[in-house]
Formats: sequence, structure tokens, C-alpha cells
Amino acid sequence: MIRVLWLTDLHFNFVAPREIDRFLMRVEAERPDWVLVGGDIGEAHDVGLHLRRIAARLSGQIAFVLGNHDYYRGSIAGVRGEVAELCQQIPRLMYLNDAEVVELAANVGLVGHDGWADARVGDYERSDVMLNDYRLIEELAYVGRAERRGLLEKLGDEAAAHIRRVLPLALDRYEHVMLLTHVPPLREACWHDGHISDDEWSPHFTCLAVGNAILEIMPQWPERRLTVLCGHTHSHGQCQPLENVEIFTGEARYGSPAVQQVWEFEED
Ligand SMILES: [Fe+2]
Ligand SMILES: [Fe+2]
Repeated sequence: MIRVLWLTDLHFNFVAPREIDRFLMRVEAERPDWVLVGGDIGEAHDVGLHLRRIAARLSGQIAFVLGNHDYYRGSIAGVRGEVAELCQQIPRLMYLNDAEVVELAANVGLVGHDGWADARVGDYERSDVMLNDYRLIEELAYVGRAERRGLLEKLGDEAAAHIRRVLPLALDRYEHVMLLTHVPPLREACWHDGHISDDEWSPHFTCLAVGNAILEIMPQWPERRLTVLCGHTHSHGQCQPLENVEIFTGEARYGSPAVQQVWEFEED
């Protein structure tokens, strides 16, 4: 059996190093062949260190995406570049933005991308939500609301373009595909405090461009199954927007990293 374990929104910058090590020992005790890490691992200055630590403490393969917090006090381009270099040094670490299709088990493939809340769901124009993203990420700081909207849409479109390219490749080869992302791709997956996010919050919590890609692609593959794993909103939820698509949203609390779910797949 191949064991796949999912983590998201670890926010290790709010956890003492000794607690991080304890948590990673608990993860290792699950004997995962694959650990999927769904973003918001740390912040720009320490996300690389945390990824190194994860790779040092876990013996399996690690596939990850980054979340908005991973870019705080830095830039998207800078952190993505740094992380790509790190993956060159540690081949067990895989950044899914830079990967095509990864084989988890004989019948199970993995694709993924950070995603980005793209201001397309809810009422962006009237929303007073001022995420730290819009102050602490170089590309998004010091721009007006209208210009920021264009940037958010572009980031969402970039994620969707990747998914539109790699998802059909994965579906062609695998019965079951897992898609790891940080931002919920549809409003119905956008759980926050136990409820679906309202018009005020959902522009900052949903990557509709990726959601639309999934809704367009999956009906063309009725014999295949897609499991989407996302986080960002820190509230557990599950939805099934199509017969063959299931979306899990991860629960998270600052300072208290947790294992979301473990799957077992046949080796062949
Ligand atoms: Fe988070
Ligand atoms: Fe996040």
C-alpha cells in the first residue's frame, strides 16, 4: 500500500522549533510514502528553512504548493525562485507549480498549483477586507483597489493555465487524480468558521479561474475521479460540485499544526 498524507496551513512561523519537530515526528510515525503540503508553511524569509526541516525529518517524498503567507515580507517571484532552487538541491521535495504530473500510486496521479484568490467571487468592489497580502507581498503592496484586482485576476489565471495544461495529462494516465492547491477553487469549498464565505470575504478566499477549469475539464472525463485538496480559509469542509469531483478544505489553527487526512492506495 502507498500511504499519502495531507497537511495544509502549517504556519510554522507561529510554532516553536521543538513543537515543529514533535509534529513532524508524529507525521513520520504515520509512515507516509508521500506527504502533500498545501501552502502557508511560513513566510518569505523562513519558508525555505521550514521546507528543509520537513525534508530532513520525513523520509518519504514531499510535494507542496505555497500559500499567500509564504510570500509575506517578500515577493512572489523571489520566493518561487528560491523554492525552485531548493527543489533542485533536494530531489525529494517537489514544488507542484513547476511539475507536470506526479505518480503517487499505479492508479493515482497528482497535479497542483498555489492558486490565488482572484477577486471573481463575491463583491470585490464593495469588500472592505484588507488582507495582509495587500500590504506584505511586494507585487500587491502599494497599488490601488482597481489595479490590485487586475493583479489578482492575473495570478488566478496563471494558476488556471497550469491546471488546464496538466490536469488532462493526468486524467489521460490515471483513474484517480489528486489536485493540491492552497486556495479553494469554488465558493462551495470556501468554508470559513464553519460557513460558506460571504460576498465580503469570498473575493479573497476563492480562485474561480481554477474552479472553472475543473468544472470545464472534468465532465469530459466521466470515468475518472478528481480529489481536490485546499486550505487557506482554515475551516474544514467537503463538497462535491460534480459527480466525479470532490473538494476537501483543510482545518487549521495558528500554533497547532495538524494532519488533515491519510489515504492508502494499491501499489499496482
Ligand atoms: Fe493559512
Ligand atoms: Fe492562506
